[in-house]
Amino acid sequence: MAVTSNSSGPSGSGPAISVRHLAKEFHLERLLFANKRTRVVSAVANISFDVQRGRTLGIVGESGCGKSTTARCVLRLLEPTSGEIIYRKLSPVDGTVQEINLGQASESELRKLRTDLQIVFQDPVASFNPRMTVGAAISEPLVVNTDMTRGEREERTQELLALVGLEGGHSRRYPHEFSGGQRQRIGVARALALRPSFIVCDEPVSALDVSIQAQVLNLLLDLQQELALTYLFISHDLAVIRQICDEVAVMYLGKIVEQAQVDTLFSEPAHPYTHALLSAAPVANPRKQRERKRILLEGDAPSPINPPPGCRFQSRCEVGRSEDLCRDVEPPLTDDGDGHLVACHFPEIKSVI
Ligand SMILES: Nc1ncnc2c1ncn2[C@@H]1O[C@H](COP(=O)(O)OP(=O)(O)OP(=O)(O)O)[C@@H](O)[C@H]1O
Ligand code: SF4
Ligand SMILES: [Mg+2]
Repeated sequence: MAVTSNSSGPSGSGPAISVRHLAKEFHLERLLFANKRTRVVSAVANISFDVQRGRTLGIVGESGCGKSTTARCVLRLLEPTSGEIIYRKLSPVDGTVQEINLGQASESELRKLRTDLQIVFQDPVASFNPRMTVGAAISEPLVVNTDMTRGEREERTQELLALVGLEGGHSRRYPHEFSGGQRQRIGVARALALRPSFIVCDEPVSALDVSIQAQVLNLLLDLQQELALTYLFISHDLAVIRQICDEVAVMYLGKIVEQAQVDTLFSEPAHPYTHALLSAAPVANPRKQRERKRILLEGDAPSPINPPPGCRFQSRCEVGRSEDLCRDVEPPLTDDGDGHLVACHFPEIKSVI
């Protein structure tokens, strides 16, 4: 049974999504390997976090650290290996909150929940049928999930186009006729069609020029205000995270290594990996840029196949490279008392900006 409880509480407060001990392993085919041993990709390794209602939690980290796998598991587009995902559905009528255990939801329950939980990809329009008009693509979820009449669907499509800053006439055009920024607006319109409350944005602006990125980010911020949306926002780009997120989790090789309010993370990072990421990110002030010490991250991140015990960052860590403790004992993600979480045996709060 997916519904675990009904509770009433002040609307708009508390987490909309709680993830506990989420893990995702991919078991690679034995036949791929000469020695016939099963290889296990530990893509997401026991992570926990909350996404507060009406707020944006960012997940940042290098390619392959497990951001998209996390996102897909949260929405059950991928089956988690273990862990719990709780969605707290807020009733717009009386403000009560229903707790739904997404991990235990049946296929039919999940189909119903798709109206509440949506995802926007890097180039959502790429997966549209190229022979379908944009209007038809945006209204497709309405055909599948509602009993709206054709007239009602057309009206809703026009409403959605206006909401994302496109013209009504665009509904008759085809996906290839649009620029990158417009394509992303179309993707957002389709994601909003069923009036969701929680949206995962997986690198939604990564393929866009910086000026267009800013327009799409502003659109997402406006929509969040207007429609009381909760976002899980994934990006490898710290500048983007800083513009849109309230809170941020830094991921490294399947683990959350640091999590804090966005201002705290940028002004007082504590994990050596976060220091390295921030030191590589450009700063607007040229004097500060010159003064800053660049921390080089040597080599690529190690493979998540059969990762070693201890700290997963050790092979690239300036602080703990030769420490036995770091090699043998995995550092837990601990709170320093004010909600700033760090997974490091030797954390160092430094000002890098
Ligand atoms: N279907 C799969 N089978 C095997 N391994 C997979 C599969 N999907 C992802 N992985 C592996 O899991 C790890 C995490 O991948 P994921 O796509 O979640 O990373 P990411 O942080 O989103 O990266 P990027 O920034 O490149 O999108 C990677 O090592 C990846 O190769
Ligand atoms: S636990 Fe050790 S190896 Fe890991 S980040 Fe901290 S200092 Fe570096
Ligand atoms: Mg990804």
